[in-house]
Amino acid sequence: MLEEVERVELTVGAVAPGGHCVARVDGQVVFVRHALPGERVVAEVTELHKGFARADAVEILEASPDRVEPPCPYAKPGRCGGCDLQHVAPAAQLAWKTDVVREQLTRLGRLTDAEVDALGVTVEALPGGPLGWRSRVRYAVDAAGRAGLLKHRSHEVVPIDRCLIAHPAIQDLPVLPGSGARWPDAEAVETVATTGGDVSVATVTEGVATAVSGSRTVREVAAGRDWTLPAAGFWQVHPAAADTLVAAVLDLLDPRPGESAWDLYGGAGLFAAALAGRVGPDARVTLVESAAQAVAAARQNLADLPRVEVVAARVETALARRRVTGPVDLVVLDPPRSGAGAAVVRDVVAAGPRAVAYVACDPAAFARDVRTFTTAGWRLAALRGYDLFPMTQHVELVGLFQPLSD
Ligand SMILES: C[S@@+](CC[C@H](N)C(=O)[O-])C[C@H]1O[C@@H](n2cnc3c(N)ncnc32)[C@H](O)[C@@H]1O
Repeated sequence: MLEEVERVELTVGAVAPGGHCVARVDGQVVFVRHALPGERVVAEVTELHKGFARADAVEILEASPDRVEPPCPYAKPGRCGGCDLQHVAPAAQLAWKTDVVREQLTRLGRLTDAEVDALGVTVEALPGGPLGWRSRVRYAVDAAGRAGLLKHRSHEVVPIDRCLIAHPAIQDLPVLPGSGARWPDAEAVETVATTGGDVSVATVTEGVATAVSGSRTVREVAAGRDWTLPAAGFWQVHPAAADTLVAAVLDLLDPRPGESAWDLYGGAGLFAAALAGRVGPDARVTLVESAAQAVAAARQNLADLPRVEVVAARVETALARRRVTGPVDLVVLDPPRSGAGAAVVRDVVAAGPRAVAYVACDPAAFARDVRTFTTAGWRLAALRGYDLFPMTQHVELVGLFQPLSD
C-alpha cells in the first residue's frame, strides 16, 4: 500500500480531467501530475485518500516523445500550481485535451464511442502561441507582502519573478518581488491588459479592490465592436477568445434575419451583440445575466441595439418564473463552470428553439448537460474545442444542439 511521502516507481496511464494521468500501484489509483501517458517515472505521493492517491512525477525514467522542458522554471513539482501542462509539447497538449473531452462525453454524457467519433472533436490552438496570452492575472500575496501564485491544491503562495503565460504588458508590470514591489496590506494584486491597450493594476484588501495604476474601467475590442467594461468583471481571458467564440457560435447557429434569440449567462453582451447583428433590427434578442456589474455593462454596451433587452436575473429563475418566455428560435448558453444544469436545459428545450449553441469551460459539466439534452430528445449535432488556456488543463467547447427530429 502507498504511504504519504513515499516514492514509488510506476508506469503512467491515460490522461484524466484535472491535469494529471492515471496510474495504478497494487490496484490503487494514483493521479500523477507532471507526467505523460506511457512514461515510466518515480512518483512522490502528495496526498492519500480512501481509494486513490495523488502524486508528482519527480524523476522521469522513460520519457514520452511528447515531453519537453517546461519553459517556466516555476512549473515544477512542489512549486507554482498555475500551469498543468508546461512539460507537454504544444501539439500534444491539444491531443491531451481532446482525449479528456472524449472521455467525459462517453462517461458522463453517455454518448457511444461511435457518436463521439462522428463529432470529430479536435481542440484547436488560438493565434499567439502557448505563452503570453493571459490578459487577467490575480496574484496572491504572502505574509511577507510578496506577490506570487498558489501551489497546486494549496493556499501557499509561491513568490515568482515572472509568469510566462501572462500577457507581455502584465509581465512588464512592477508587481512581482524581483521588481522590489511589496504589498504588505493586500491579499491579492489584480492585473489586466486588454485588447484595447489598457493596463490596470489594483490591490484587493478584505475583498475591496483599490486602483494602483490604470483605470478600473477598461476597453476591449471584439466582434467588431468597442467594449467598456469594469476591469474586475468577466471577460474572456485569452485575447483571441472572444472573436473565436463569436465566430464559432454564429457559424454553428447560422442566425437568419428576423429570428428571435436568447443570450443566457450573457455577461456584458458579447453574443447578444453578435446575434443582433445577424437577426437584424426587427428581431428581438434577450440577454439574461445575474451579476449587477455585468448587467450595467451590457446595458451600456448594447445601448445602440434597441431590440436587445437585458434582463437582470438568474437564468434558472428567469425561465422558471417565466420572466423570459418562448417560443424562441435560437439560444446561446454560456454558463459558469458548474454548467447550465438540468432544469435550465429542460426549460430551454421547452421554449422550442431550432438550435442551441452551448459555450462551455468545463467538459464534465457540459457532458452532464449533454445527457439532459439527449434524454429530452435532442442531439449534440456538432462540437468544437478551443485551447483558450494553453499550458493549463482547461479547454473551451462550443456545442450545437438540435432537436432529434431535425
Ligand atoms: C462564462 S461567463 C459568460 C459571459 C458572456 N457570455 C461572455 O462571453 O462574455 C458566465 C456569466 O454568467 C453569469 N452568471 C453566473 N451564474 C448565473 C446565473 N445563475 N444566472 C445568470 N447569469 C449567471 C456570470 O456573471 C457571467 O457573466
